[in-house]
Amino acid sequence: MSVENFVAYNPTRLHFGENVVETLGEVVKQYGTNVLLVYGKGSVKKYGYYDKVISQLNQAGLKVYEYEGIKPNPIIEDVRKATALGKEKNIDVIVALGGGSVVDSSKIIGLGIANDVDPWEFMTWSVMPEKNIPLVAVLTLAATGTEMNGAAVVQNHETGQKLGFVHPLNYPKDSFLDPSFTTSVPADYTAYGIVDLIAHALEAFYGAGEPSVIDRITMDIVKDAMEWGPKLMNDLSNVELRANIMLDATLALNGLTSYGKKNGDWGVHGLGHELSLLYDLAHGATLSMAYPAWLRLQKDRIPERIQKMGRLLFGTEDVDDAINQLEAFFEKIGSPVRISKGGKKTDKTEVLDQWNRNEVTGMNHKLVEADREKLAELMY
Ligand code: NZQ
Ligand code: ZN
Repeated sequence: MSVENFVAYNPTRLHFGENVVETLGEVVKQYGTNVLLVYGKGSVKKYGYYDKVISQLNQAGLKVYEYEGIKPNPIIEDVRKATALGKEKNIDVIVALGGGSVVDSSKIIGLGIANDVDPWEFMTWSVMPEKNIPLVAVLTLAATGTEMNGAAVVQNHETGQKLGFVHPLNYPKDSFLDPSFTTSVPADYTAYGIVDLIAHALEAFYGAGEPSVIDRITMDIVKDAMEWGPKLMNDLSNVELRANIMLDATLALNGLTSYGKKNGDWGVHGLGHELSLLYDLAHGATLSMAYPAWLRLQKDRIPERIQKMGRLLFGTEDVDDAINQLEAFFEKIGSPVRISKGGKKTDKTEVLDQWNRNEVTGMNHKLVEADREKLAELMY
């Protein structure tokens, strides 16, 4: 029941609901006139979000430069190229239009432009930024919480790392969340998004500190996603259901679930990031593979905590039952729960070597080499 000391900080202004993008132009204009619009590999053009955003920026009389082609599990090469473009064009403000990959990349592009430092230096925490470029996010996928947090995750295949950089300068100034912009997200990424938000709540729950009200709020976020998630999977264009999941995703990782905690755990995310790096697996898919396994590894070490999760989520006192039910939920919405079922050719030894090389551990219930070995068995 311990409430740990904590500092809460969240400067992002959230614009939530249908048609909120109608004020985008005026909001962006406050930050300058030269805009770098960053987006992914085409979905925003296909489904009309790009047109809505461009027309807003044009109406506000802004000069727009574009960086297109950020890939899922974003890579440092794109961040570097966009940074160079931003510097050349004297960018005042970045507009990120997309999912977590686009918003995360944009956070680091902004740091690269403002600080004249190779952006990878931030990802390795070698250099701390002193300033940034204002970032406005228009989110098209509910999952990561990046729209209202200070985290960014980028891959580097040269160094063999997928790293997260967390810093107060990373928060978007404004984020626009219109749930109708997410109605086109395909079934697989919709499911991965639901898994991701649940995993964020669980990473917080299994961190150090057990503030009772936050335990309840955190598990309620998970319960909400478990209630609406399966309905959404059967009705992907339902804006009301999309809105509920979108709000769940923001709340799961905008700081709220960390109140009264010393840290989150994040070991499962560590395991998952290495899988994304090796096989380009979608982030959420790696988490549905890793979470049940991690809980099975920990069940004799932290039985009361897992029992509390089971009680709050499923009304069960049985630890195995709780883990099985969580796993069954992931399966039910269509997210893989074994690496061997993830649709990519993978190799157990390679996975284990990668985890050991980058010493995946977590912050609270730290994993050692023998744990990683067990996890590889449990996840295959
Ligand atoms: O590239 P396009 O064509 O835009 O397609 C994307 C991409 O293929 C597509 N998509 C996005 N919005 C769409 C859409 N398709 C149709 N309609 C729409 N409205 O979805 C695919 C996945 O996009 P991506 O941005 O990669 O997904 P997500 O939002 O799940 O982001 C994943 C990345 O975020 C990181 C992950 O590691 C991963 O790299 N994370 C960031 C966190 C943070 N900043 O706090 C925390 C998370 O734990 C996570 O690590
Ligand atoms: Zn995540």
